[in-house]
Amino acid sequence: GRTLTFRRRPLSMDDTQAYAYETDGALLLRDGLIVASGAYNAVREQAPEDAVEIDHRPHLILPGFIDTHVHFPQMQVIGSYAANLLEWLNTYTFPEECRFVETAHAQRIAVHFFDEMIRHGTTTAVAYCSVHKTSADAFFAEAMKRDMRMVAGKVMMDRNAPQGLLDTPEMGYDETRAVIAQWHGKGRNHVAITPRFAITSTPEQMSAAQALAAEFPDLHIQTHLSENRDEIDYTLSLYPDAADYTDVYANYGLMGPKSLFGHAIHLSERERDAMSETGSIAVHCPTSNLFLGSGLFPLKELARREKPVRISVASDIGGGSSYSMLRTMDEAYKIQQLLGERLNPFDSYYYLTLGNAKALSLSERIGTLEPGTDADLIVLDMAATPAMALKAEVVTSLSDELFLLQTMGDDRAVVETYVAGRAAKTKLA
Ligand code: GUN
Ligand code: FE
Repeated sequence: GRTLTFRRRPLSMDDTQAYAYETDGALLLRDGLIVASGAYNAVREQAPEDAVEIDHRPHLILPGFIDTHVHFPQMQVIGSYAANLLEWLNTYTFPEECRFVETAHAQRIAVHFFDEMIRHGTTTAVAYCSVHKTSADAFFAEAMKRDMRMVAGKVMMDRNAPQGLLDTPEMGYDETRAVIAQWHGKGRNHVAITPRFAITSTPEQMSAAQALAAEFPDLHIQTHLSENRDEIDYTLSLYPDAADYTDVYANYGLMGPKSLFGHAIHLSERERDAMSETGSIAVHCPTSNLFLGSGLFPLKELARREKPVRISVASDIGGGSSYSMLRTMDEAYKIQQLLGERLNPFDSYYYLTLGNAKALSLSERIGTLEPGTDADLIVLDMAATPAMALKAEVVTSLSDELFLLQTMGDDRAVVETYVAGRAAKTKLA
């Protein structure tokens, strides 16, 4: 097939130095890794005589998509009719997450979760489990079965939610430590420290999260920040000494290059500077921001600042409305349109692969087709539906093809998904 991979973020549509595209490309896979990549003839020369060759022409081969913020216990929350974030949380999300106290329910949903990731070509996700340790156990056990590289955490939350969804500062600390001991580094699993957000954690619990972050400085940290105006006001009333919402997290040592802040829509200049200076990541969740009416994320503005803010993109299922990272970038594009900005297709696919991998400090393993990295790949078909096939007739460039896939594509455009070198989704028997 044809292969596309990024080296760095494209500066413009004409910036061909940022990516590598082979019109007659090939990959050699062995033991879950990419061993060689490049022009077909050069790769063929390195392949053993008996290597099995799969012809993906005319499709496009890319690194698997990465979703940097998704809620595994919200698969049955998706599409819930609500006015805004806080109503949505209280009416639908918290009651559903209570069900994850049942191991059998968590295990059943975990199977569906990984099926959907693979169907949509998402090979790595950064997930929130529920407050219950057993939900994290179910998640990581299923990830190991599939041999997928996943980042996830048991949610810490000890107030402002139903009783069945609350831990305590001590429980949140102890159970997170237990999850780390049991799962971090097992298979391809990474554990993230996961205080849900400032509204559902007491200052005592935030201190417990701070202690975990200090004890395990290599772990990711994930939480929510500045998603909705009412959420911001409520947060500031709960933390009256903080200069602003971002300052709440800064005061507990939770900012840094491995910290992922979901949404981060309504940040002041001071907060943007603080994000930039600490290397923290603003996670853009376009379908969720539109679905919950949260606001328009100023992606281009944050990226081109003198002090740029690091950005990743994500589905935020079940506030988000699609598992597809193609649908996600289509909505991201439309949000920039409304802000009078333009997101070019190369920029979009950079975010889905190398950009998100860099945001996770995992680009040595995923997000590229570099030899030595994990063989997590997808094969995309721009003519996956009758309407796409018709449009594909007039496509004349790589950027047109990428844009068609982004604008009209979803799981149907993902013909194959390879996880650690194995075909997890395939049309071939
Ligand atoms: N803020 C706190 N929890 C959540 C959640 O589950 N989804 C979203 N979108 N925002 C949140
Ligand atoms: Fe979220």
